[in-house]
Amino acid sequence: MKILVTGGTGYIGSHTVVELQQKGFEVIIVDALFNSRIEVLDAIEKISGTRPEFESFDLADRRLTDEFFSRHHDIKGIIHFAAHKAVGESVEQPIKYYRNNLDSLMNILESMTKYNIPNLVFSSSCTVYGQPDAEHLPVSEKAPIKKAESPYGNTKQIAEEIISESINAYKGLNAIALRYFNPVGAHDSAMIGELPLGVPNNLMPYITQTAYGIRECLKVFGSDYPTHDGTPIRDYIHIMDLAKAHVVAIERMINAKMKKSFEIFNLGTGTGYSVLDVIKSFEKVSGLKLNYEIVGRRAGDIEMVWADPTFSNDELGWKAERCLDDMTSSAWKWEQTYRKNS
Ligand code: NAD
Ligand code: WQD
Repeated sequence: MKILVTGGTGYIGSHTVVELQQKGFEVIIVDALFNSRIEVLDAIEKISGTRPEFESFDLADRRLTDEFFSRHHDIKGIIHFAAHKAVGESVEQPIKYYRNNLDSLMNILESMTKYNIPNLVFSSSCTVYGQPDAEHLPVSEKAPIKKAESPYGNTKQIAEEIISESINAYKGLNAIALRYFNPVGAHDSAMIGELPLGVPNNLMPYITQTAYGIRECLKVFGSDYPTHDGTPIRDYIHIMDLAKAHVVAIERMINAKMKKSFEIFNLGTGTGYSVLDVIKSFEKVSGLKLNYEIVGRRAGDIEMVWADPTFSNDELGWKAERCLDDMTSSAWKWEQTYRKNS
């Protein structure tokens, strides 16, 4: 059973590829290596014992995408991770984001109808909820979609609409959109993990790079939020729990277990932690004192959001199992292993 993983050398994609292989799926990756490295294939092979098939081209190119699918008639499902994901950059370069994230999706959907590929799993994001009102916390899939706060967030909202409309229009297409909360951590082997190019935007890689001495000091953005310690709350989810949910989603489609032809699930733990909670967990598991300072709020940050995972737990039979300490310790192990070997 062959599955196409777009963006499969990226952070979430690489962990999902390993899980798919370990469940017996054959994997082909397409990744243009815009935000990942070819060496990830070696790491995947070391972990799973199998090197996935790999092609490098830009999925936003319609001709190349069609040409790819015309050569691969045995793909039974697609997990579509490939996208640009830097929120700040999307504000500065919106067209880059709309073109890449939407053109690639439309090219894939077009090829799915042309070459009769029925199943799509799409990477969506909790960003579609914005700051949920108090009565919608924890946030379920039924919560209202707020106007997107960035072009990046808007690409996820529009993408969900494009998928929904395509499914209504073309018989035989099925899709599952997974709305991730905050994925963090790394594979237990520490051979793959999050590898941001340049200065990280996200909290966890900033913490581990600071602890390793690559960054001088972590800036904690704001301590005047209405939370237990004044810092914002997020639903951090271990990357391995997230990866496993993709295997469950693709199996649900292949085994014809879907209740509707387009389903949407939250992927979160259901527990929110503040920035200081994450730092405390990191300090506990690493035995280090992290150099950090509290500064002003970061523009566009929401105060608090965490998932209601009831629907995914009940319908998918999937539940996030790993705790915050597992997330911080695996992220730290990955950072040290990666730096020692590079
Ligand atoms: P990532 O940048 O590590 O991986 C994405 C991969 O896609 C990269 O390897 C990149 O080279 C590739 N890519 C991008 N555009 C491409 C194109 N046009 N053609 C071919 N390859 C292309 O990102 P990630 O963290 O693994 O995120 C995967 C998906 O999950 C993205 O769609 C992202 O928006 C979504 N998501 C991520 C998070 C998060 O915090 N990491 C949260 C919610 C949703
Ligand atoms: C987490 C918390 C920061 C860095 C982003 C995207 C979202 C989704 C997940 C893709 C916040 C604080 C961070 C730092 C800090 N991605 N922080 N100092 O902003 O919740 O979500 O990734 O869909 O769309 O917006 O994640 O890791 O950037 O921040 O204090 O140097 O850590 O203020 O409270 P965020 P993050």
